[in-house]
Amino acid sequence: MKILMVCLGNICRSPLAEGIMKAKAPEDFYIDSAGTISMHEGKHPDKRAVQTAALHGIDISQQRSRPITKEDFEKFDKIYCMDVDVLADVVSKAKNEDQRKKVSLFLEMSGHHQNAEVPDPYWGSMKDFEDVFQLLDRGSDAILKQIPV
Ligand code: 4NP
Repeated sequence: MKILMVCLGNICRSPLAEGIMKAKAPEDFYIDSAGTISMHEGKHPDKRAVQTAALHGIDISQQRSRPITKEDFEKFDKIYCMDVDVLADVVSKAKNEDQRKKVSLFLEMSGHHQNAEVPDPYWGSMKDFEDVFQLLDRGSDAILKQIPV
C-alpha cells in the first residue's frame, strides 16, 4: 500500500501526517508527503512541526518539501488531502476517474464529518501544532483500521 499525504506547503501538516503514518503503518507500506505549492521546495519541515513530532518520539527532521507531481497519481494507491482547498487542487490535477478515486480528504476518511479539515497551523502557536498532531494521530489509526493488510 502506497499512501501520499498532501497539504499546501508540505512543511507543516503533511510532513507530520507522513511521520505519524510511517510510525504506525505495517513495514511494507510506503508513505510520502507533498504540497500543492512549490514555494518551500527542498526545505525541511517547519521547526515547530519537527519539535512537535519529536515530543512524541517521531523524527521528521530529514524530510524535504516537494510539490505533488503527475507521477504521484500513478504511483500511490491513496492520496489524503488535509483541507478542502488542497482536495480541490489535487482532484483538478487527476488525469482520469481512476486517479480521481484515489484522492480523498484525510479527516473524512477517518470518520469525521463531511468536509472536516486539518487546520493550517502555519500562522498559529505550538498548541495549534499539538492539536494538529492529535488529529493526525487519531485519524491515522482510523484510516489504518479500514485498509486491509
Ligand atoms: P502546510 O502549512 O500546508 O501545512 O505545510 C503551510 C505552509 C506554508 C504556507 C501556508 C501553509 N505558506 O503560506 O507559505
